[in-house]
Amino acid sequence: MPDVQPLNSDLNGDLNGDLIDPTVATPARIYSYLLGGEDHFPADRAAAEKALEAMPVRDFARVNRAFLTRTVRHLAETGLDQFLDIGIGLPAPGSTAETALSVRPDARIVGVDNDPIVLAHARAHRGEPAPSGATIVAGDVRRPAEILENPEVRGRLDFDRPVAVLLVAVLHFVVDEDDPYGAVRTLMDAVAPGSALVLSQVTADLDPDGVGATAKAYARSSVRTAVRSHKEISAFFDGLEPVAPGVVRLSQWHPDEQVLAGDDRIGMYGGVALKP
Ligand SMILES: C[S@@+](CC[C@H](N)C(=O)[O-])C[C@H]1O[C@@H](n2cnc3c(N)ncnc32)[C@H](O)[C@@H]1O
Repeated sequence: MPDVQPLNSDLNGDLNGDLIDPTVATPARIYSYLLGGEDHFPADRAAAEKALEAMPVRDFARVNRAFLTRTVRHLAETGLDQFLDIGIGLPAPGSTAETALSVRPDARIVGVDNDPIVLAHARAHRGEPAPSGATIVAGDVRRPAEILENPEVRGRLDFDRPVAVLLVAVLHFVVDEDDPYGAVRTLMDAVAPGSALVLSQVTADLDPDGVGATAKAYARSSVRTAVRSHKEISAFFDGLEPVAPGVVRLSQWHPDEQVLAGDDRIGMYGGVALKP
């Protein structure tokens, strides 16, 4: 395999140079490895194994994915049928599309990601449903206006009706100097009343040493990481109406029978809130 695989550039956007570099780990491929997926290279596996030495990051991935599934099911059951999943990742069970479509067969799902491998999957399935079941476009949460102006996003989602905006396990890859709070505000300003924000991210509140060591393992990857406190994560929801129980450890958000004893130890907070 060559070191760097150029992709056909029929999608616009900054896709880390539109190159897949198998020698540098990326969050999407590390996450795929942790979830038992197939889309990863030795560098991703090495970074994941390094992180596993410090923290049970495989449990983080499982618990986070289950949170995503429960929140999407909840929102679909309460009437939302449009989903903008930013940082959608590689295909894996429990996805936004699989879950939303199981409740609302008419649901529309647009995924956004800045990792070229996620787009390569979508491109390979052009003209047929992507493996995730979502329409996937190139985009970067650090440039929310470009996501909102993307014709494929506009064509697929009706912004005059409520949209669920998902930022699940993505904002810990956006450092403060890249203004993640401004990005969330821009996105939520653009959607109709009744829209929802679903957000989860890693915290150091529960295990500062483990998170520090894991951040070091991710430092070998393509991105920097930003862990945040409960207060800082709650601030993403400013101006929105929290859905009970608010911003909590992921396993405490509407737990079902798949939540395992010990999942409470996972150092991530998440929540859902509605635009008034
Ligand atoms: C840990 S995965 C989470 C996948 C999925 N949201 C979930 O929770 O199951 C993080 C995803 O966010 C994407 N990502 C990281 N930084 C991003 C950015 N600045 N803009 C868009 N996507 C980003 C990564 O490529 C990866 O696919």
